[in-house]
Amino acid sequence: MSNENAYCTRLREILCPEGHWELSPIMENLLRDEINRLPRKQITEDERRSPTTNEGLKEFFTQFFVRHFFQIQDCIFPLLLDEETDIRSTGILHITDVGCGPTVVSLAISDLVNTLQNSPALIDKIVSLEYTLNDISSASVSEGIKLLNGFRRRLLTTKRQGCVPQMGEPEALIQTFPDSADNLALRRTQNHNHGKEMLVLSYLIGPLVQKEGKRRTAKGILKVLATSHHKPTMVVLIEDQFHENELRSLSRELGLRVEERSLTQKTYWAENHNETYSYTYYVASTASATAGMAGFTYTEDVTTQLQAERVTSPDSACQISGVSRHSEMGTFA
Ligand SMILES: C[S@@+](CC[C@H](N)C(=O)[O-])C[C@H]1O[C@@H](n2cnc3c(N)ncnc32)[C@H](O)[C@@H]1O
Repeated sequence: MSNENAYCTRLREILCPEGHWELSPIMENLLRDEINRLPRKQITEDERRSPTTNEGLKEFFTQFFVRHFFQIQDCIFPLLLDEETDIRSTGILHITDVGCGPTVVSLAISDLVNTLQNSPALIDKIVSLEYTLNDISSASVSEGIKLLNGFRRRLLTTKRQGCVPQMGEPEALIQTFPDSADNLALRRTQNHNHGKEMLVLSYLIGPLVQKEGKRRTAKGILKVLATSHHKPTMVVLIEDQFHENELRSLSRELGLRVEERSLTQKTYWAENHNETYSYTYYVASTASATAGMAGFTYTEDVTTQLQAERVTSPDSACQISGVSRHSEMGTFA
């Protein structure tokens, strides 16, 4: 077994003992406290899936949060240890979390990195995490920032023998994607560190493609990537079977391949909370762009498309389709 595979196997054993994904004690306590704190009220299905109120957030945490959280960890952890995208080489990871809701992706990755750091055999340096959050629901983003801060506080107070990741102050952008792509791109150009970058859209592609169309959605994603094409970015798109078709058509547009995956997890917060349940989900990531290659190799696909775009705006190497990289900062908090 290669070193990389051995790392992945070891990390999987920690995250998913006996084949069942489980929350770390810190994350479980944080979520339980939040669910207990939030008020309960009858709400619509839309509000449950994309919460804009405290009542909606309570339902989202109870029904969807943990499922999405495990799927994010399941598909992202091999990327963090992959030879080319390995965060161990730089110790810095910038996460752009689009359609972040209550920061599910950012929390899942922070928890992953903490698990890595508490296994000195897996990583021996402190990782700095930076977050750019984008959503249309300010209630969700505020709640997410609160959870990220709560997670950071609990990490510091329960610090065990290992060390904990350095979690930066999240920057929030309340704006509709793909309109927000210029501001997200700007944020990336201002980020001058030499760390790794990751752009994640989890459980957003379906509604986005239905509303905006696959071309406009793909252009938004490419626009975010284009500003720092010198700094390759891991891209991860996640959906369930209800939006598999939209994910597949968008991924074809971007040159990514979709993988079907399933995982078995402990169920939380439900009456049958001691049972396990298996969920299938779909992921398109840069790691699946070319067989046997991971991470940065996707840029060949994306770059091809970006170059095609640049032909339409030859006056600036930094423009695609007339979008200036010097756009206004917008509503970054
Ligand atoms: C189902 S939730 C997913 C939250 C989180 N990413 C996850 O994996 O659990 C979808 C989120 O996308 C947000 N959203 C919907 N349309 C959006 C858009 N056009 N731009 C940015 N965010 C959007 C919603 O407000 C909601 O918070």
